[in-house]
Amino acid sequence: MSDKLVLVLNGPNLNLLGKREPGIYGSTTLADIEASLQGRGQELGITVELRQSNHEGALVDGLHEAQERGAAAVILNAGAYTHTSVALLDAIRAITVPVIEVHLSNPHAREAFRHTSWIAPAAKGTIAGFGADSYLLALEASARL
Ligand code: DQA
Repeated sequence: MSDKLVLVLNGPNLNLLGKREPGIYGSTTLADIEASLQGRGQELGITVELRQSNHEGALVDGLHEAQERGAAAVILNAGAYTHTSVALLDAIRAITVPVIEVHLSNPHAREAFRHTSWIAPAAKGTIAGFGADSYLLALEASARL
């Protein structure tokens, strides 16, 4: 039996993880997160592909690709687009692949403008506030879907 595919989509500024506001986001880089997800994925029989883009439309394309490729789940950290993007909300609604929203920080413990997620109403669920472990917890969740 072939592995399940999980796409991990990362939005703006997450390419700078490890250097970007480490007091909030930690010192783990996106490459570190990718390596740990792929390691755990192997144990779970999941192929993990990770992408990052600073462009909203590329994230929309990634959601469409997940549908076309029959992915088992998408793990989505939309970064600041979480709080602005109707296009991402619509894209999640346009596909049948379950999308797990993740955040390293807990947006509800931060500025008021981060308290609203445009994508949460369409997400299967949200994991936030556990630093890099938010991604691993989302992978565990996707294995159980
Ligand atoms: C974030 C939280 C967002 O509010 C912020 O714009 C980000 C990162 C997180 O992972 O904690 O870029 O999604």
